Amino acid sequence: MNRRDHSSGDILADRRFGYAEALLAEGDLAGAVDLLTQTLELVPGWAPAWMALAMAEERQNQSAKAREAYSRAEACDQDGHLGAALHLARLDGRATPPAMPPAYVASLFDDYAPRFDRHLVDELGYRGPAILMDALHGTCGDRRFRRALDLGCGTGLMGAALARRADRIEGVDLSPAMVERAAASGFYERLVVGEIGHHLDESAPASFDLVVAADVFVYLGGLGPVVEGAARVLAPGGVLAFTTQKADDGAVRLGDDLRFSHGADHIRAALNTAGLGLKLLAEASTRREAGKPVPGLVVVAQKPYL
Ligand SMILES: C[S@@+](CC[C@H](N)C(=O)[O-])C[C@H]1O[C@@H](n2cnc3c(N)ncnc32)[C@H](O)[C@@H]1O
Repeated sequence: MNRRDHSSGDILADRRFGYAEALLAEGDLAGAVDLLTQTLELVPGWAPAWMALAMAEERQNQSAKAREAYSRAEACDQDGHLGAALHLARLDGRATPPAMPPAYVASLFDDYAPRFDRHLVDELGYRGPAILMDALHGTCGDRRFRRALDLGCGTGLMGAALARRADRIEGVDLSPAMVERAAASGFYERLVVGEIGHHLDESAPASFDLVVAADVFVYLGGLGPVVEGAARVLAPGGVLAFTTQKADDGAVRLGDDLRFSHGADHIRAALNTAGLGLKLLAEASTRREAGKPVPGLVVVAQKPYL
């Protein structure tokens, strides 16, 4: 659970919640449900206990009870940082909401930031930046970029890869802890803690000649708005390059891992609507899960020259 949620404000409820978490870890689901129900009698408006109850009920295949508890969590969680709405969408097989609640993504990555590079690169074999650099080389040769925008820059792995061929790099990310690390990397001329769509709206038209997003669109739903925003900030001839998780069927899907995957047809349609020309759409896996490559796509598109 998130750092912000360590206390309900009631010492007895906190203790029961702590025991319930221990039972959950041991797999005693019935015992955990019992303790969480007692916790919620003391603090009925405490979202983390509703989330834990929902997860315990789901693990017991009690979907109706799980749905009810996720709904209660959603109602108590003002800014949506626990992601209950996503779990409800997943349970119902819906690809909504169209984007993850910003507070959910920010707290997810604030918690992840200290171990992000080690876990992702060493344990999951993460190759997002390398895949994008190869794709840029394959489609744009040795072209040098004057001004690059790194969407969802995280700790700065993409900036490090890009530094060889971009004069100035700007990064934006929702998570302050990730941005702090990106700043320490020294590869960015400008860093902003903010939401991608909002940042694109705020940026001047035609102000970049490269926009990249490595393993970031998995946290967005439909790609129409972000591709449209990128097209607006790109100068004529500018390039958009990104990776996604690949959806075999359907345009956009929300997976059990609470990441979105995107189908090739959806991507082509978004690029087309935004007036970008497709230069590359190829299969490429950015990371492994349970030892297997996660199916993915790498995409490079270009804004026409005037
Ligand atoms: C898996 S990390 C990838 C980081 C980096 N691009 C890399 O390749 O190492 C995804 C990053 O995207 C950020 N992110 C996700 N959705 C976002 C949004 N809507 N606006 C801004 N940042 C977002 C997260 O905070 C996180 O740092």
